Amino acid sequence: MRLAPDDGAPLLSLRRVSRFFRVGGGLWRDAACLRAVDGVELEMRPGESLGLVGESGCGKSTLGRLACGLLSPSGGEALFRGAPLPAAGPGSPLAGRVQMVFQDPFSSLNPRMRVGNAVEEPLAALAARDGAHGALAPDARRRVVAELFATVGLAGMEERYPHEFSGGQRQRIAVARALATRPELIVCDEPVSALDASVQAQILNLLRDAQERYGPAYLFISHDLAVVGFMCPRIMVMYLGQIVEEGPREILLDHPGHPYTRALLAASPRLAADPEARRRLPEPVAGELPSPLDPPSGCRFHPRCPQADERCRETAPPWRELSPGWRVRCFRA
Ligand SMILES: Nc1ncnc2c1ncn2[C@@H]1O[C@H](COP(=O)(O)OP(=O)(O)OP(=O)(O)O)[C@@H](O)[C@H]1O
Ligand SMILES: [Mg+2]
Repeated sequence: MRLAPDDGAPLLSLRRVSRFFRVGGGLWRDAACLRAVDGVELEMRPGESLGLVGESGCGKSTLGRLACGLLSPSGGEALFRGAPLPAAGPGSPLAGRVQMVFQDPFSSLNPRMRVGNAVEEPLAALAARDGAHGALAPDARRRVVAELFATVGLAGMEERYPHEFSGGQRQRIAVARALATRPELIVCDEPVSALDASVQAQILNLLRDAQERYGPAYLFISHDLAVVGFMCPRIMVMYLGQIVEEGPREILLDHPGHPYTRALLAASPRLAADPEARRRLPEPVAGELPSPLDPPSGCRFHPRCPQADERCRETAPPWRELSPGWRVRCFRA
């Protein structure tokens, strides 16, 4: 099966997509149902950068894995260019068209494989799937790999092993590997969270340059609103498995509508370092994320929200459009 070529359809659409996990079952008790992602709507255009932000455990990685076919939805529908998103895997029709960059550059590369071979691997997998038709021959693959190493600033280092590189350099190699098949979508799951601040900026700039050059769309996941704002013109804010606010970065970084987004802004290390920004922001959100095994009634954020009232405790707020492209799930926004 081949996927349809570019026909003007959105690149990726998630329609009320949910992913539940059964946890804690045993001999004497039934498994509980953990709602990691609960009814998410998302649409991405080709070449777009969409940011997904939220605190640890809110379901970002689960959503990222749903978006690239590494997980299948428990409910709802995931579409890639208008057709049901197939499961990821070497023989998948999606292979090479969707890639992922992970948080940890130390565990995402095989320590026993030369980095040039690691970057070539997805191209070789495509060649194995497609045979002689349209796949690159080995010498052409090696030229592509050499060009990618030059693009990420590591020209001529293909023969080395991962342990010979720093964390930032390894993340560059992970980016080169993700770009190798010229994918249409790259899911970047916290790609700079494990790196120190100066190296973070290098990797973010590299990702932006690579997008200009090769044109992939990015679903860019981070817990830091400032990082997401640097990369993405459009941002979605996730809380306990649901999207609670979505809009252009100018609005979300300047005057967000949802109290949770405001609290996230206040928690961004970059913005906290700026005294001017600090004066405008509330305190970072107090308390822990509630368990997705037993989400609160009404608005899921109400137990931690300074503005919550009776209605928030009882009724889940519907989406409210505050201006075109900006919507919030909050009664009081
Ligand atoms: N395979 C799994 N089995 C059971 N529960 C899972 C599984 N994967 C994720 N979860 C649970 O789903 C919820 C969301 O996890 P997820 O990894 O998507 O969060 P996250 O927002 O990426 O967090 P972090 O910022 O820490 O990476 C968590 O409560 C997690 O424990
Ligand atoms: Mg995660």
